[in-house]
Amino acid sequence: MITLNINGKPRQIDLPTDTPLLWALRDYLGLTGTKFGCGMALCGACTVHLDGEPARACVTPISAAVGKKIVTIEAIGQDATGQKVQDAWLTLSVPQCGYCQSGQIMAATALLKQNPKPSDADIDKAMSGNICRCGTYPRIRAAIKQAAGSTERKS
Ligand code: FES
Ligand code: FES
Repeated sequence: MITLNINGKPRQIDLPTDTPLLWALRDYLGLTGTKFGCGMALCGACTVHLDGEPARACVTPISAAVGKKIVTIEAIGQDATGQKVQDAWLTLSVPQCGYCQSGQIMAATALLKQNPKPSDADIDKAMSGNICRCGTYPRIRAAIKQAAGSTERKS
């Protein structure tokens, strides 16, 4: 049994320590907002935050998440930057099928928390590992810029 800090709360998890965090979140805890895409750290659908850094939950064993603050899409709206990102996503109707979008929002929020005014190159670099088969990339970039603008106005 190990304890993980997930979305601000301690959660007891009775799984082998090499279990991928994504399995623990989705199958053990029922936090299904984080998606399974490739399972090989290639698509970004499973992106969560570990101590504020974007991490691929599909290849992160739960043992590596002990003692870290894990945040998932279910709680990102409780973060001021995450709320701005979600608002921009809604305003610009970013998702198409939606499958990749949890990971996109988690990656975008991590970017803006580290770099409130990213350039196009910064955005491309930060988001390059998050694949969208629907090709929503132009709207993703526009939404990040909109969220950055609102960050700028209120700071
Ligand atoms: S499911 Fe984790 S990166 Fe694709
Ligand atoms: S919105 Fe369909 S994969 Fe990105």
